[in-house]
Formats: sequence, C-alpha cells, structure tokens
Amino acid sequence: MCGIVGYIGNRDAYDILIKGLHRLEYRGYDSAGVAIIDPDNRLNIYKSRGKVDDLENFCQSKNVSGSTGIAHTRWATHGEPNDINAHPHYSASGKIALVHNGTIENYNVLKEALQLQGCVFKSETDTEVLVQLIEYIKTSNRCTLVDAVREALKEVIGAYAIAVVDTDNPDTIIGARKSSPLVVGIGDGETFLASDATPIIDYTDKVVYLNDDEIAIINRNQDLKIITVDNVPTTIDIHTLRLSVSQLEKGGYPHFMLKEIFEQPRTIHDCIRGRIGNSGSKVTLSGVLENREHFQNAHRIIIVACGTSWHAALIGKRLIQEIARIPVEVEYASEFRYSNPILTPNDTVIAISQSGETADTLAAIQMAKKCGAFVYGVCNVVGSSIARATDSGTYIHVGPEIGVASTKAFTGQVTVLTMLALAMGQLRGTVKDEEAAKITDALRSLPKLIRQTLKLNDEIEKLSGIYTYVHNFLYLGRGYNYPSALEGALKLKEISYIHAEGYPAAEMKHGPIALIDHELPTVVIAPNDELHEKIISNIQQVKARGGSVIAVVTKGDKTIAEIADHTLEIPEVPESISPVIVSIPLQLLAYHIAVKKGCNVDMPRNLAKSVTVE
Ligand code: M6R
Repeated sequence: MCGIVGYIGNRDAYDILIKGLHRLEYRGYDSAGVAIIDPDNRLNIYKSRGKVDDLENFCQSKNVSGSTGIAHTRWATHGEPNDINAHPHYSASGKIALVHNGTIENYNVLKEALQLQGCVFKSETDTEVLVQLIEYIKTSNRCTLVDAVREALKEVIGAYAIAVVDTDNPDTIIGARKSSPLVVGIGDGETFLASDATPIIDYTDKVVYLNDDEIAIINRNQDLKIITVDNVPTTIDIHTLRLSVSQLEKGGYPHFMLKEIFEQPRTIHDCIRGRIGNSGSKVTLSGVLENREHFQNAHRIIIVACGTSWHAALIGKRLIQEIARIPVEVEYASEFRYSNPILTPNDTVIAISQSGETADTLAAIQMAKKCGAFVYGVCNVVGSSIARATDSGTYIHVGPEIGVASTKAFTGQVTVLTMLALAMGQLRGTVKDEEAAKITDALRSLPKLIRQTLKLNDEIEKLSGIYTYVHNFLYLGRGYNYPSALEGALKLKEISYIHAEGYPAAEMKHGPIALIDHELPTVVIAPNDELHEKIISNIQQVKARGGSVIAVVTKGDKTIAEIADHTLEIPEVPESISPVIVSIPLQLLAYHIAVKKGCNVDMPRNLAKSVTVE
C-alpha cells in the first residue's frame, strides 16, 4: 500500500528516487520522504505530508547530494498522515534509516520492550519500531547491519518490504520482503530497489523479484547477494522486463484513467491475441491445457477477489456455470480467508487480481493451497506475488494500469474469464461448437465494438454536467449486467465521492425503491437481452416515482428512449460479453462527473492502487 524506492550507484540518488516515487504514487500518496547519505557520510532525511510534488518543493533548497538513498510514498495505516509519521524513519543515533511497506502486527509488544531499554519514539508508526529494533540489536550484539536486520525480522509478525541504509555502511542498501513486493533492478555499476519495476525500467530491464523471507544485500562494489532470514544464500534468478516507458506515461490525455479507458480496443486485442485464432471457435489457454485435469474434473470452482476484480468474478461465475457447467462460488478474499472454508483437492480456486499484490487475495490463495486445492491466477502484473503464488494462470495482458479506478483491467478480466469458461467448456464437452463460435466471434469483434462505444465520450461529458452535484446514485442491472451495475456504482463513488449503490434491478422493489425521488438519478443497464421486457418495467417503476433515468441501451431501442430521461446507445452484442461494452459508458460517466467536481480522478482520497495490507 506504500511505495519504496532505493538507489546505489555512481549517479545522484535524489532525482532517481523522486522519479521512482512519482511512478509509485499510485500505491499511496498521503506523505513522502527520502533519506540520502551525502559525500560527507551524513544521513539527510526529508519528509513531508502530501504528494511527491510537495516533497520536491520541500527539498528545493536542501542538501540532497549523495549516491546512496531510499525513498517512500505512504498510504497511512498506523498514525495519521503527517510529517512525523512519514517515512523514512530513523534510529535513535540517526545513523540508520528505513522505509517500509506493510504492517508490523506485533509492533506494540516490540515497542514496549524497546521503551524498557530506554528507546524514545518520535512517531506513532509501526515502522519506527523496526528501525529502532535493528539499531538496538546491532549495538547490543555488536553485529553487522545484515545480521541485525535478519535478527530483527525474526522478531517481527506481519508483512513487510523494507529498505535500510546506515552511515556505518554507506556503500550498502539492505532490502527484505515478506508478503509485500520488492524488486531489485541490476544496472551497470548501479542497483535499484523498488516495490514494482516501474521506477527501474528507465535504467535497466534486468530484475530480480525477491521471495518471502529473503534479504537482498546490495553493495556498491560487489555483486548482488540474496540470503534468507536464516542466513542461507539463495540463487539469483534474473528476469528480463517486457515493459516500456511509454506505457507509464499519459500520452497526451489529461488523466491516466481517461487514457486507460481509451486504450481498451488495444488492450482487449492484446488480451485475446494468440488465445483465439482469426476464425473458428477454438480457445487455447496454455494454463488450462497444462492442468486439464483440474478443470475437467473439478467438482466446484471458487473464485476469490476484491473490489473490481470481485465484480469481474461475479460475471465469471455466470460464464463458467453457463458454458462449462461447473458450480461456481464467488467470495470476497477478505471474508473467505477467515471463514474456515471447506476445500478439498477436488476444488479449483481462481484468484483474480489486477495488481497481483492484494494482501487478502494472497492470503486466500495460501489458505486454498494448504487445503490442497489447485489455484489458478488471473492477474495483470507479470511476476507479481499472486502470479507467482498460484499454481498456474492466465495474464490479462492489458499493460500497466495506473489510475486508481480500475477500467481496462476489469474488461481484460472479463475477457479472460470468457475465454477460460470456453476453454473449460471445450475440455468438458459442455459447449456446442456453434455456441462457442458465436462467443469467439464476439470476442474478436470486441476491439471494434469498444471503439464505436467510445464515441459516446462527448455525449457523456455533456450529460455529466447535469449530474455533477447530486448526492446519490442508484445503478440497476440484471443477469450478466447485475455485476456491471455494482462496478458502475463503485467507479462513481471511488473517484467522485458520490454515494452510489448497485442493485439487481428486480430487487429494487424489495427496499431501495423507497429511496427514489426527483433527487436520486438511476442508471439502468438495459441492453437487448432475455430480460429486456422486465427491465423496462423496472424503469417504469422508477419514472412513476419521479426519479430520473439514464439508460444504457442497445442502439435503436425506441421503447426505452421514450421513457428514460437519457439513453446511451451501445452496439448490439451477445448477452454474455455485454458487460465489457456496457462498462465503457459507465467508466466515462464516472470519469466526467469526477472531473467536473474537481476531484483527483487518478489519485482519489483515502485510496491506493494496490491494497497490500489487511
Ligand atoms: O489489484 P486487485 O485487482 O487485487 O485490486 C482489488 C481492488 O483493490 C481494486 O479492484 C479496487 O477496488 C479498485 N480501486 C477499483 O477500481
């Protein structure tokens, strides 16, 4: 939930650290800081509340020289976002500084023990405990920094990715991880450390992903060394990144979110490429083929996910049940992990996560694996913790998603789940060829259909002006598009701070209808499908009570055009893939309302892109 960067080499660390923090700002942005060892071996630490820009302003007239440094952008867990609680934290002597992503669960016990030894704490954070503990061990055991870090980590319960610098070891940075990601970038005479590869990509494409309980010893004059917390050296597995700098920039759009919405014709093309051919109904997913017994014989599938990925999971459930005829349950990962679930080796668990770092989803995977279930991942970030923790999986391949509100990842997830359902159905013989061909044809035409749907942008921009200052919204949908209603409502609330609820349209009469009046607009997702007639009645029920209706309809739907206040026309698509197309106007509506309200759409308040804490 926080972002870490580290640099050691022959250049000035500051610029590299700041640029890296900007890249990682999606992980948290309530305060930021840097610690750099200067040429006179002084440890200079600067930190401030606010975004990385605020830190840069603060550092303007400061001494930021030095080529060994660490930096942090924070999403507060322990202690409010202020200058003191911002990272880096430093030890009593001021010699050791540390940045941390994660949560030290037993920090209170450790803090009390250190206070009894005379340690005085400046901040309210769990992180300061760790840096004080490292110094305490280093001094009292008269051991090396590496040994002190190892011993301290053995005392810690919780999740961490850390980077540590020490003026007694000015040519070294120590990194370590457990349940929070950390990547080492190996350059020419310089080494980088970061929460993900985005701060590293400008300098090198050679990276090493640290595993849990590993410690990286990065020395200016020596090769990278990795040991476990028990001091066992491990082999270094160097990966080559396939990420380009242009993917991390806005490319002329005012916000990443808008860029990512408009990228969807291409991202869906990339997502299906090589998995369905130019014609025919065959779907080839290597992860399914290599593990066919787990899909052919699965008694049950359980999908675990959070947020938007959970909405995609609900659509996946319908697709898999319909096409592959396997019973599917969908669980919030955060609930699943504490529900003492009944799992057997005959169950297949699918974990969906854009970032591949969501702590609850990762914990649910670990629990499923302990029970002997086969776990399949649907992730976006290549090499992420979830991608590596699962037995096999399918990447959605939509490229880096930087806007906090998930857009292209959602459509990529639904597209992969459609292919997964087809691949399973084909293995199990539950889908007829002509049915599969109808869906694969529709998948092939998705990029074109999304391009057509994006033409609604101007119309939606105008429409958003009418609804900028309402306080509540209701979203209704049925069947495959009930999850689309949930997703539309989530998009609006997270970036515009307007309260929005998604409901299955027919459930409205069991309660939410009481909310309807002229101040509550309702977005109704009503493409031509099996339940079209029924949803028309739901629209009439809203209109009869004075509510206004924005309806997402199939092109040419005159019936709804006559009763709704506004209609947004999408192209005709088969019902099972309509959520991909429907999500485009809903993303645009949320985006334009938020922009008109003056909200920071890429970095909404209180949120972070990767939720790596519980
Ligand atoms: O990276 P993940 O897909 O695991 O993230 C799950 C949620 O945190 C994420 O979808 C969140 O709800 C987004 N902000 C939604 O736009």
